[in-house]
Amino acid sequence: MTATPPTTPPSDTAAQGNAPSGRTTLITGAAGFIGSHLAHRLAQRGDRLILIDDLSTGRSQNLPAHFTQLPHIWRQGQVAAVLKREPELMADVHAVYHLAATVGVRLVVENPVEAIRNNIDQTAALLEAVANHANLINTPASGNTAGNTNGTTKGNVEHAGKNVGSNAAGSVGENVGGNVGGVLVASSSEVYGMTDRIPMREDQTLELGPTTSPRWSYAHSKALDEHMALAYHQNGKARCVVARLFNTIGPRQIGNYGMVVPRFVQRAVAGLPLEIYGDGTQTRCFCDVRDTVEALIRLVETPACHGQVFNVGRAQPISITDLAKRIIARSNSRSTLAYVPYEQAYAQNFDDLMRRAPALEKLQTATGFSATISLDQTLDDLISLERTASTNQHQGAQSVVKPGAKSADRQAEVAARSASQPACNVNVNPGQAEISTNDVKPPRHSGKTGTSWSRSQ
Ligand SMILES: NC(=O)c1ccc[n+]([C@@H]2O[C@H](COP(=O)([O-])OP(=O)(O)OC[C@H]3O[C@@H](n4cnc5c(N)ncnc54)[C@H](O)[C@@H]3O)[C@@H](O)[C@H]2O)c1
Repeated sequence: MTATPPTTPPSDTAAQGNAPSGRTTLITGAAGFIGSHLAHRLAQRGDRLILIDDLSTGRSQNLPAHFTQLPHIWRQGQVAAVLKREPELMADVHAVYHLAATVGVRLVVENPVEAIRNNIDQTAALLEAVANHANLINTPASGNTAGNTNGTTKGNVEHAGKNVGSNAAGSVGENVGGNVGGVLVASSSEVYGMTDRIPMREDQTLELGPTTSPRWSYAHSKALDEHMALAYHQNGKARCVVARLFNTIGPRQIGNYGMVVPRFVQRAVAGLPLEIYGDGTQTRCFCDVRDTVEALIRLVETPACHGQVFNVGRAQPISITDLAKRIIARSNSRSTLAYVPYEQAYAQNFDDLMRRAPALEKLQTATGFSATISLDQTLDDLISLERTASTNQHQGAQSVVKPGAKSADRQAEVAARSASQPACNVNVNPGQAEISTNDVKPPRHSGKTGTSWSRSQ
């Protein structure tokens, strides 16, 4: 297992050139931010990939063209529909990473029925398909206790490992030549709710807000996904592990949807003010996506982890003001900070957490994983990528404008930028959404602008 993930996304060539690993891996949400990094990483080591995404928030350009060709399989569509039509896709799968979801509180608030149903129905369909068709990973996990989230102590992990490991070594080892299979269901730190217990531990009581507040339905839907995964595991229908992801950042994350880091980076490179909601003392912990995917792979491939819940993230907190200052400093930007009061940012009360940080001992003990990429390194990568993108767009805009047409030049530049970064790009409140959740996106089918989206909160 690679200890240090690459510092830049694997290239198309690198992903193409490796000997087959003998493993087939299914990724839902494969064209999304995290899914695409996972796909690159697994292809790089030689996995055959089955990739599903409906492109509702994902982008096809996140995946190289050859991922859509044999031996890989690409299906554009909803997880449930694809697996209903082609259940045989599951037959030879060793591992499943279920990342497809309507991501973030605001998107759920804007389209509650669609979002809640998407997060719950797709997970139910996925798990049922595994139970019925994924011969290599639905082996009963007898003896292990689903919902055993208190495995921070070594004893619990070892206990689970003994039970499930013996299963894996038997049926699964037999089936896949020693490879370990499993299903990873992506959950979110949002499920911890309004707790002030820091760091957040997997075994602590979840303090979700009331169902009368739509803001909490994202967390409830993810908590229900966790229940489903653990129930299927407990019933021996699918060996599952739940990953509670904390704020994840890195290349290919787009600022359109309100994520704090890409938005700050974009505005800093452009020399625009970085807007911070509240007083900026809110703290978050950011983990590079290349570390995150390493952790996810280890969770699936460590039998002792199956049937359990793990935080995934990086433990170093930073306040949003310090984050903004650091991005400005590292990009040598002339940007300023602009503080926006909560009341102005939201038309209605919005529960926010002042601190959010993961306890990572359980993950470290069970898998040996700890994040290796520093925040500064990720920021530097992102600043460099943004500069390149900005320069390319500027040059592209200039090339279509007649010399001397200054106002047209500016318009073309703006048009070129907004074409690549559609919707809610200019006026969306960049601070609050992601400061609150960092996994917040605007409605995908509402057709609303960023302005109306943010103002409607
Ligand atoms: N990025 C973070 O900081 C973060 C934090 C907590 C949890 N998560 C979880 O990680 C997972 C991946 O998040 P991400 O940041 O990569 O978001 P993303 O929006 O980039 O990826 C989600 C992908 O799922 C696809 N999708 C949505 N519904 C689908 C459906 N019904 N069928 C097929 N594809 C569908 C989207 O098109 C998108 O490509 C999600 O489950 C999310 O809840 C992410």
